[in-house]
Amino acid sequence: MNQKLKLLEQEAKDAIRGVSTIAKLREVNSLYLGSKSPLREIMKTIKDLTNEEKKEVGMEINRFKAMITEEVEIKEKQIQEDLIQRRLETEEIDVTLSGTSFPKGSIHPLTAITEEIEDIFIGMGYKIAEGPEIELDTYNFEMLNLPQGHPAREMHDSFYINPNVLLRTHTSPVQVRTMLEEKGKFLKIICPGRVYRRDNDDATHSHQFMQIEGLVIGTVVSMSDLKGTLSELAKKMFGENREIRFRPSFFPFTEPSVEVDVTCFKCNGKGCSLCKNTGWIEILGAGMVHPNVLKMAGYDPDIYQGFAFGMGIERVAMLRYEIDDIRVFYTNDVRFLKQF
Ligand code: PHE
Repeated sequence: MNQKLKLLEQEAKDAIRGVSTIAKLREVNSLYLGSKSPLREIMKTIKDLTNEEKKEVGMEINRFKAMITEEVEIKEKQIQEDLIQRRLETEEIDVTLSGTSFPKGSIHPLTAITEEIEDIFIGMGYKIAEGPEIELDTYNFEMLNLPQGHPAREMHDSFYINPNVLLRTHTSPVQVRTMLEEKGKFLKIICPGRVYRRDNDDATHSHQFMQIEGLVIGTVVSMSDLKGTLSELAKKMFGENREIRFRPSFFPFTEPSVEVDVTCFKCNGKGCSLCKNTGWIEILGAGMVHPNVLKMAGYDPDIYQGFAFGMGIERVAMLRYEIDDIRVFYTNDVRFLKQF
């Protein structure tokens, strides 16, 4: 019996060593260890042996199994290593081949302008304040000196969700919220964000657009501080030689109120199509914070003063890049966006 096993073992080892694929190896494995292997035949005859012999043959059989299993494992590893080796030898990577290029996006012009203006004001010590686009009538109008029925509400006609809640028509309510939160502290903030007005959508109007408004509150804040600040903004945005001028205007939340123009950066003030031959381009509205607004937000107007201003980002972007249709900002045509 042992003799038989010895022969079988030699035969199996030779067979294992002779194979060169994993599939063949599996075949050989089941040929010598599987249910139809000669080993099974040997095992069937064990029952006729003496106890002593049974023990001895049993041990031999286990040794045989372990030996074959080990040989198979060694062979398998070897085959796999050979495979890898062969791939390494035959496959080459040509590092000189030109690669696949991935399409690269760019920053949307409105985002770029917003960030540029934010940077300018952060440089002057301002903080950025943000608020909800769905706003209470109280913050959007009431506390900005625009009571129910005030005619100036017409200019801001909006999308109401219910009589007390609307899509904000400007980012000024963020200023109100900040004043209420900071409870009488000095403030220097800008409020960027999306605003909504019921408007016709045409080349220069959109029912949704973006604004940046600013607010400064202290005890000694004057109109000349406002002019200095906006002059700095104009120079940084449109070039060192820019000058600004104030024209009297009206906003319910500021008194006095001004419309701010900058000298045309295309013709340097001489007159051209961009400035409609006036030499000036209107960029924003501003003024000194109305005493009523201060009072309603808990700031004593006999102690505190402030200035505020607000501009449309689209308008600045349209001037800067000479874009003549506001709608191109929102349709996201890549032929337009790719230019930035
Ligand atoms: N809130 C005004 C608007 O949206 C802009 C503005 C802000 C004007 C602050 C003056 C002062 O029309």
